[in-house]
Order: sequence, then C-alpha cells, then structure tokens
Amino acid sequence: DGEVYKYYADGEWRASGSGKSVAIVNPTTRQTQYRVQACTQEEVNKVMEGAKVAQKAWARTPLWKRAELLHKAAAILKEHKAPIAECLVKEIAKPAKDAVTEVVRSGDLVSYTAEEGVRILGEGKLLVSDSFPGNERNKYCLSSKVPLGIVLAIPPFNYPVNLAVSKIGPALIAGNALVLKPPTQCLLCNQGAVAALHMVHCFHLAGFPKGLISCVTGKGSEIGDFLTMHPGVNCISFTGGDTGIAISKKAGMVPLQMELGGKDACIVLEDADLDLVAANIVKGGFSYSGQRCTAVKVVLIMETVADTVVEKVNAKLAKLKVGPPEDNCDITPVVTESSANFIEGLVMDAKEKGATFCQEYRREGNLIWPLLLDHVRPDMRIAWEEPFGPVLPVIRINSVEEGIHHCNASNFGLQGCVFTRDINKAIMISDAMESGTVQINSAPARGPDHFPFQGLKDSGIGSQGITNSINMMTKVKSTVINLP
Ligand code: G3P
Repeated sequence: DGEVYKYYADGEWRASGSGKSVAIVNPTTRQTQYRVQACTQEEVNKVMEGAKVAQKAWARTPLWKRAELLHKAAAILKEHKAPIAECLVKEIAKPAKDAVTEVVRSGDLVSYTAEEGVRILGEGKLLVSDSFPGNERNKYCLSSKVPLGIVLAIPPFNYPVNLAVSKIGPALIAGNALVLKPPTQCLLCNQGAVAALHMVHCFHLAGFPKGLISCVTGKGSEIGDFLTMHPGVNCISFTGGDTGIAISKKAGMVPLQMELGGKDACIVLEDADLDLVAANIVKGGFSYSGQRCTAVKVVLIMETVADTVVEKVNAKLAKLKVGPPEDNCDITPVVTESSANFIEGLVMDAKEKGATFCQEYRREGNLIWPLLLDHVRPDMRIAWEEPFGPVLPVIRINSVEEGIHHCNASNFGLQGCVFTRDINKAIMISDAMESGTVQINSAPARGPDHFPFQGLKDSGIGSQGITNSINMMTKVKSTVINLP
C-alpha cells in the first residue's frame, strides 16, 4: 500500500489524527494506486480557524503582491506539469497528452486571473447623490469590491487541477482564503486528489502565507456535509454532479457557484457542413471518453442528412484508439466501476427498447468501446440521462422545432450547439435553446477559460469564467461621504 499522501494545512503537510486513509483506485488497473488522509471534522475546524486568520492579513496585502504570487504559482505549476500529469493518468485515466494540456492550461488560467484581477479589482466607482430625485449634490458614494472571506472549492474528478485553479485563482486574487476539498467521485474514492495535492504544492512553493490555502481529503460521509455546512465558509464553488443540488439545499446564506451536469444537444440542420458535423460529434461526444460536462450528449439531426452523418461518424469512431491512457489512447477506461455499470445500464435500456447499435457493445473492466446509438426515441433513458461515458444517442428529427423541443424538455441546460450555414437561423435557434451557452458550428466547450460559463435549470447557479468568478467571490463595499 505504501505511503499515504498528507493533507495541507497551516502551510505544512500533515498526517490526519484519524490514522485512517482513503484508497484511490486506478481506473485502468483497478488496483489501489494512491492513498490520501481521511481527515476528521476536528481537523476541518482547525483549517477553518487558520484560514480566517490568514484571510484578514491577505485582504490587506496589496493587490499587485497577490498577483505576483499567483504568477509565481502559475510558473511553478507549468514546471511541474509532468508529475502532475502522471497523477491524472493514474487516478482518472486521462490520456497522457490531455493530462499535460490540463496542467499547462491551468498555469495559463492562473496567470490570466492575476492580470484580470489587478485590472477589475483595481477599479471602483464614485456615485453622486443629485442624480436621484430630491437629492442635492452633497453625498459621494465610493464603492469597491472586497473579499467574501473563506471560499470552499470542490472540483470534479474530470478536471481535478483545472477546475480547482479556476476557483483558487479568483478566490485568492480577490483577497479570500481558500479551502480545497478534492473530488469525491463516490463516498469512498477520491479520484484526482493526489493531482490536486500536487497542484497545491505548487502554491506552497510559490510562498503564499500559511493557512491561506488548505487542502483536506477524506470521506464524503465524514467531512462532505460538514464542510459545505460549516459556519466559517463564506462562499462555495462546486463543480460536479447532482450532489451540487443537495449542497445548495443545505448550504447557509452564502453565494454559491455551481456547475452540475449537462445533456448538451447538438442540433444538425440540412444545410450544415456534414464533415464538420461528424468531426465535432466525435470530438464533442468522445473526447476523454465522454466524461466532460460539456460533452455532446444527444445528437438531434434532420432525418434527410442523418444517414450520411451517421456513416461519417462511424468511420471516424472506427479509427479511435481504445486502451490505456499511458498509450495516449482516445478512449480510456471510465473513472470507476460503478460509472461503467451505470453507462452499461443506459445502453442495455436502449437496446431493449429498440435503438440501433452502430457498433457492437464492448466492455472490459472500466473500458467501454465507443458506441453510437441511432434511432433513439424519447422513451429511452439515454435520451435524457447523462452517461458520462463514450456512448452517444442520435435522435432523428423532422423539424428544427422538434430538436429545440427535445433540448428544452431536459432538466439540464448547460451548453448546446447548432450546425447550419444559415447564420440567421443559427442565432434564432440559439435564442430558443434553454442552455447557458450555444456554440454555432462547433462542439460545446467551456474554454477559452475567460469566457462566461453557466448552466440553466439543474445545470447550475451563477456564471463562471475568470472575470465572472472574480466578481462572484467579492462583494461591494460602499463608503458615503456626506457634505454639510
Ligand atoms: O466537465 C467539466 C466542464 O467544465 C468541461 O470543460 O473544457 O472540457 O469544456 P471543457
């Protein structure tokens, strides 16, 4: 079993007093790869106390100094890309190349956040009273943005580094303290936690004050609710599944930023560039084996072009490399066995109800071969549920309205995309789709990381993207000068 990775509190690496640890199972080998500390509630309390003290001093640290430290952390993060990427390969079976990209993208995100922060937080507002009826020009209101206090960040397993720094960077530049709780994919697994700990180490090396950043690992059942309901927490930024809905119900009166699931629709019109469509369906639906909130999760295609597109997609799927992440395969094992079982359940339900399998369904352990399901109908679970795996349903439609109707009948509303050469139609369809973002002629994607990113309905609360996150992690403070 070997060493248990320590958690990070008060500027140092510690072993939990619980004497217990949580295993992280490698999705490919299905053997325990790493172990992390099972922190206790008492340890969480200590972290909160330390964060509170550190935050007060940090809020008074000049903005340019905060930015300087973030730039330093970004550079260190990039220097450490190889060992962090290795953790991503072993913990979440992310293809090796994509794992490196995630770390580099994260460094860029942190640098951009520092730059954006000094600009937008360096500006305040001056209001004068005489614009409101009944007032003389005798009141001057100075308002600026101040930190919230302690931000609790909970990233998901699929981007344990990138979606951690997208919370850490904005929180810190804005003058907050940050407590990180790495992903808890299921109650007893912490996939992505070791990559997250290594990323935190880069912030440690950059020299942030002790207590300002902490990282606690453990069992969701022990510290999950305890953290999200902790009175010391002033803001929660969560990315993940429907646990987010439970968190939002239990959390106190604190700002919430939630990015939950999606069932991103890809609407294909008759006049679309069908090669472009096929390429984007494969990229959008099957990158990282479909384990992205923004993956294409249902194709809604006009019947007249469906055969052609399905054929083109099948030809591309046949070329995908299926296997271990170390070999840079396109399709790699899904994160846990229970996830693979869930995907299989959706596939079997579609089979019983008469969907056409474009490929043979094949699974070995957590590895599921890419599968396109044609002629899917609304009575099948896969028409509505999010597989988070390399299986994609195609629903044939006879009108654009039918496509929009299916998209809007979903509980989710993260992103969507529409393929057509008619820009007027594309804009009208985008307006009609109840999704946070609609991409025209490309697959859904969160990045570039400064774009606003938000879900409607069960897909989330608030808007992310670097600028929006900085703003969300601050509040407005006013001082009014009253002249006699
Ligand atoms: O699944 C998380 C979501 O944020 C996806 O991000 O960059 O793959 O579009 P991205």
